[in-house]
Amino acid sequence: MAAFCAVLFLFCFSWATQAQQSLIAFNQSAGALLLADSSTAPVILVSNDEWTGVQRAAGDLAQDVGRITGINGTVLTYNSSFAAQSTAPIVIAGTVGKSSLIRSLVQSGKINVDNVRGQWESYQIQLVSNPLEGVSSALVVAGADKRGSIYGIYDISEQMGVSPWYWWADVPAMPQQSIYVQNVTKVQPSPSVKYRGFFLNDEQPALTNWLNTRYPPGEYGPGFNHLFYSTVFELLLRLRANYMWPAQWGSMFYVDDPLNPATADEYGIVMGTSHTEPMARNTNEQSNFLNGTWGWSVNRANVTEFMRQGVERAQPYETLYTMGMRGLGDVASPTLNASSLEQIVNVQQDLIREVYNTSNDSVVPQMWCLYKEVGGYFADGLEVPDDVTLLWSDDNWANMQRLPLANETGRAGGAGIYYHADYVGDPRDYKWIDTISLQKYWSELQQAYDREARQIWILNVGDLKPLELPISYFFASAYNTPALSSPNSTQAWLSQWVARQFGTQVADATAAILLNYSVLAGMRKYELVDPTTYSIINYNEADNVLQQWQNLVSAASAIYNQLDPSLQSSYFELVLHKCLAGFTVYAIHINAAKNNLYSEQGRTSTNTMAQTVMNYFAQDHALTQQYHNLLNGKWNHMLDQTHLGYQYWQQPMRNSMPAVSMVQQREVSLAGQLGVTCDGNNGTVPGDDMYHSLSSNVLTLPPMDPYGPSRWIDVFSRGTDAVNFNVSSEPHVLVSPSSGILQATGNNTDLRLTVSIDWANAPNGSTISVINITTTTPTGVYNNGTYPYGNFGRPQVQVPVNNTAVPASFHGFVESDRTISIEPKHFSSNTSNTSTAYYEVIPAYGRTLSGVTLLPFTGPSQSPSSASTPKLTYNFYTFTPNITNANLTLYAGTAMNTDPTRPLRYAVSIDNSMAQIIQPNPLTHLWPLPAMWNGMVANAAMTNTTMHNITRTGAHTLNLWLLEPGLVVQKLVLDLGGVRRSYLGPPESMIV
Ligand SMILES: *[C@@H]1O[C@H](CO)[C@@H](O)[C@H](O)[C@H]1NC(C)=O
Ligand SMILES: *[C@@H]1O[C@H](CO)[C@@H](O)[C@H](O)[C@H]1NC(C)=O
Repeated sequence: MAAFCAVLFLFCFSWATQAQQSLIAFNQSAGALLLADSSTAPVILVSNDEWTGVQRAAGDLAQDVGRITGINGTVLTYNSSFAAQSTAPIVIAGTVGKSSLIRSLVQSGKINVDNVRGQWESYQIQLVSNPLEGVSSALVVAGADKRGSIYGIYDISEQMGVSPWYWWADVPAMPQQSIYVQNVTKVQPSPSVKYRGFFLNDEQPALTNWLNTRYPPGEYGPGFNHLFYSTVFELLLRLRANYMWPAQWGSMFYVDDPLNPATADEYGIVMGTSHTEPMARNTNEQSNFLNGTWGWSVNRANVTEFMRQGVERAQPYETLYTMGMRGLGDVASPTLNASSLEQIVNVQQDLIREVYNTSNDSVVPQMWCLYKEVGGYFADGLEVPDDVTLLWSDDNWANMQRLPLANETGRAGGAGIYYHADYVGDPRDYKWIDTISLQKYWSELQQAYDREARQIWILNVGDLKPLELPISYFFASAYNTPALSSPNSTQAWLSQWVARQFGTQVADATAAILLNYSVLAGMRKYELVDPTTYSIINYNEADNVLQQWQNLVSAASAIYNQLDPSLQSSYFELVLHKCLAGFTVYAIHINAAKNNLYSEQGRTSTNTMAQTVMNYFAQDHALTQQYHNLLNGKWNHMLDQTHLGYQYWQQPMRNSMPAVSMVQQREVSLAGQLGVTCDGNNGTVPGDDMYHSLSSNVLTLPPMDPYGPSRWIDVFSRGTDAVNFNVSSEPHVLVSPSSGILQATGNNTDLRLTVSIDWANAPNGSTISVINITTTTPTGVYNNGTYPYGNFGRPQVQVPVNNTAVPASFHGFVESDRTISIEPKHFSSNTSNTSTAYYEVIPAYGRTLSGVTLLPFTGPSQSPSSASTPKLTYNFYTFTPNITNANLTLYAGTAMNTDPTRPLRYAVSIDNSMAQIIQPNPLTHLWPLPAMWNGMVANAAMTNTTMHNITRTGAHTLNLWLLEPGLVVQKLVLDLGGVRRSYLGPPESMIV
């Protein structure tokens, strides 16, 4: 289907058609059962031999009804003397093979569960007529197993309008007059991924500080007790997850509260421990309870005993064991190697066999996380028993390092992925707020599924809040991966997600906000943004980026302001806060960058700009406070994470503002009251600075042509008095405004003048025009106060004008400013014509517009010399002659070589030249990472440059082949000698 869509360029997405089948309605329809209204609430029947966790979830359903209609339902334990004493609507919930109530319905032929029986976590929901004596109709939820029943119950809750996030993000249920169950049968198959969970990585400070305000401390540290974990388990189940690695740094799951493991098991959560904590024992247990040191070669007997105790303690509960061993804490061991690790795993499997009293350890799920150096051992040839799941890791920055190879997909234990939404480490921590590109998640998660890493998906979620959105997306994808197989599905999924929290009226607009947010936040982690990141002089880059943030804030605020007040706290937590907080961080850095430049330029507005930065710095705190004060302080401390003032990978201990400077506003510049600078330039005239030759009074604008943007000149006060200015230029050079007065204080100290060209009246070909900016305001105190420019000359700005035209027959990108910049989705042709290899656009992928990738993820390698290899072409037109070293930079999405036998490659050529084949990311051992990795993940892009000869002017074609799935191209820039510094690369060239 996807291939068909791609080839025909249809806009199609499968989510909408494969979404949750609708069982619940709020209006009466034929055959529907009234479940609840303002005077009716259901009785939920469970049998007393049902799983406790299912009985507990039935209680949640009863309360969920009350959240919607105001009257709670009731849970009753069924016995054979039950007769419906009341007219209350009946819900029957139970597990096939466990519940005697369900068994009797099956035996009496009232329901047929053949479609779900024996299917992992599957369930069936249907209306049944006369299920029991005295009951004319009932809604029956039959789970294939414990979690199947629980997911069935929560499916009803969610469809009624109770969000999984009702407590963790305060989403209120939408009130309804009546709730009906439609007469349909829903059969929910097994989830796509077997174990779906998150790692609550309680890195200080946020979650722990918050926890400390709500729960009493435990014996050894913060009180991560079963009351706290109950809220987390319920959230996981409502999100259709089933697995968890508990908080590890300041806590010990099994020790802090002995009720923790039993509570997890009762709820239905499979417990594990993090990648660095084998055999169900937490890191802190090593220092508290291990006899001797955590070292295999020196303390093998005690370490083995320590591990045995872990298995004995966890054996009564559903447990997925972390195997292997690492050093103390989260580091490599100096003494372990591949062969000692094989030995350790053999001992661990022996322990499992002994404690579980079985000869077959495969009945107990086990995984080995090939994280950091452990992946290196694997690359060295470490052999992992076939029944242990290989948990492949990303590089901590959402790029899977490795996925199963063809000869690895048959392993009994299968494979899984360990993935990050939060991280502490190189090149920077990112643990403040959501920085996730959802489309990046799309490409990696779909690829992991297609490459058959389907046994375990686990996401590091740091403090859990405020990562609600990436958590929701991750679990939606893990639950039904094929439903999200189209890259167009993300926006549709977002709309549904928003609709479930805030209603359909704001769904599409909010989905667009969240998708845009994920692009802006994904451009670079906040922790890596500083005043030098975005150019404040080239391509209006910083201003444009800040404007996009401003637009996001405006759109989100407008919706927030219209919302019912009952929804506002939640909307603030899930949508508005991150827009405001992201905007504020950007405003701090970009205004600080301006302050720094303005100071060099002697601008009077340096000082107001410093104040602006301080205002935004105060706003950053105010936003944190607003979050902490929500709902009487429910989330106090949850945003304690510092995020400003990073010096190295680790968080700063206190937020600190970037440096700002001041100019001496009481003294006038040596070069007079008026200063002039222009687009693309740090320099100022008149007067001397490091950016132009001494005693020069001339600056030069980037060249202008009919295919490029307008330019700007800034005029500004550098003195103590108001200063006038007047602009004169040739008639075809239009400057607006062309005169004015700049004040020495307040807001009107600077003015941006727009320079454009009247092309119809401009001379043909290349010319240089001069713009004169004059003033009659005397200097002030220096030079007897009379000469307007001190000892310097009158300021001038030169503008190179290139009046040229492409032939009307040409269609494609046109050179401007000696640059061609291409967004890859705007190809001139795409030769994809088979379903085994084709290109597809990923909207909102990467840092600018979109990405283009080669699908399917399981497709074969491609070669540019094969005519059947799909090719993208881009027509472009050049004016600059004899370019013998044009640099073509391809910006790809960050990616690792997940198949070392097939490293990522692309090929490019211009016109008929030979294709150059490039491998952007070198093959390395799984660990350590290649040298280019730091820059790649920091920049959220992987760039490679090829050199090309473009000797003639006129029409050309750029040919591009992606040779392996997994590579996503997000931008192409051909430098004909004009590309200037920026973070995102030049904006896209004009297409005619
Ligand atoms: C529901 O539909 C089935 C099959 O279409 C029908 O036999 C049954 O009577 C319906 N139930 C109700 C309550 O209308
Ligand atoms: C529903 O049950 C909850 C939990 O016991 C309780 O707090 C709430 O007040 C009940 N609602 C109504 C309307 O009785």
